[in-house]
Amino acid sequence: MASWDFQGATVIVTGAAGGLGATLARRFATAGAAVGLVDKQEDELERMVAALRQAGVRAAGVAIDVGDDAACARACASLEAELGPTTVLINNAGISPKHEGRAREVLDIPPEEWQRVFAVNLNGAFYMSRHLAPGMCARGHGRIVHMSSVGSLAYVGLAGAHYDASKAALNSLTRSMAAQLAPSGVTVNAIAPGRIASPMADTATGDTNRRLLDMIPAGRFGEADEVAHLALFLASRESAYITGEVYAITGGLSTRLRRE
Ligand SMILES: NC(=O)c1ccc[n+]([C@@H]2O[C@H](COP(=O)([O-])OP(=O)(O)OC[C@H]3O[C@@H](n4cnc5c(N)ncnc54)[C@H](O)[C@@H]3O)[C@@H](O)[C@H]2O)c1
Repeated sequence: MASWDFQGATVIVTGAAGGLGATLARRFATAGAAVGLVDKQEDELERMVAALRQAGVRAAGVAIDVGDDAACARACASLEAELGPTTVLINNAGISPKHEGRAREVLDIPPEEWQRVFAVNLNGAFYMSRHLAPGMCARGHGRIVHMSSVGSLAYVGLAGAHYDASKAALNSLTRSMAAQLAPSGVTVNAIAPGRIASPMADTATGDTNRRLLDMIPAGRFGEADEVAHLALFLASRESAYITGEVYAITGGLSTRLRRE
């Protein structure tokens, strides 16, 4: 386990009520951070916050839809009022709509579903960043990590075209933000996981997951803890010179793909 120290840091994680986000929040808390949890699942969020507080962690949660800019503004203000200025923002909330275990073919995606995926996966990251990054810049330090996907780098056929396109746009946002915030001491990077065991991964058919497993040189899916390990590394003070990058974490799957 990494030993980066987040004592005194405030870390906000979106999509923190389940899957990768819950693991990320717990790992930052174990490393000493106060954690602000954002998710649309109110009950699950309350359970997470209660469990963290019981373990002695400074934790707070706000239930919102990250696709709503005004709600993001309220959530950021309320979490910072309770936990103090944000040191690290992890934009992890994301959706990958499945219908009977499969993503729709591109021409079958209804515009409402297309827009919803962009609202959560791309706009949500932009909204949270636009409310928290100015404070980071003013304080001369901050770390932002966007949760992208291997589907942003090449066609894997796992998720829909809207999902892959929203994640590719997130990589582009990563680069623009990184370039513009670097002079203020704020780094912005993205993580592009391959298949990681999570509720989202469970929504795919057994067939899809088996086909994918055959393509992964490591011969297994990743663990949420392994993604958290990379997130903590990128969010650490020591990673000050790493910015604007998209890190694939795929058990070698990315070696088989043509990159963007
Ligand atoms: N699991 C994988 O294999 C995998 C692979 C590549 C990328 N990712 C990315 O990692 C991130 C986390 O994925 P996961 O597998 O843990 O997914 P998940 O579905 O298990 O969890 C996502 C969390 O985000 C929350 N969420 C969804 N929409 C929201 C909204 N509008 N507002 C606030 N919260 C919302 C959900 O309630 C849930 O708690 C996502 O961005 C996903 O695209 C996952």
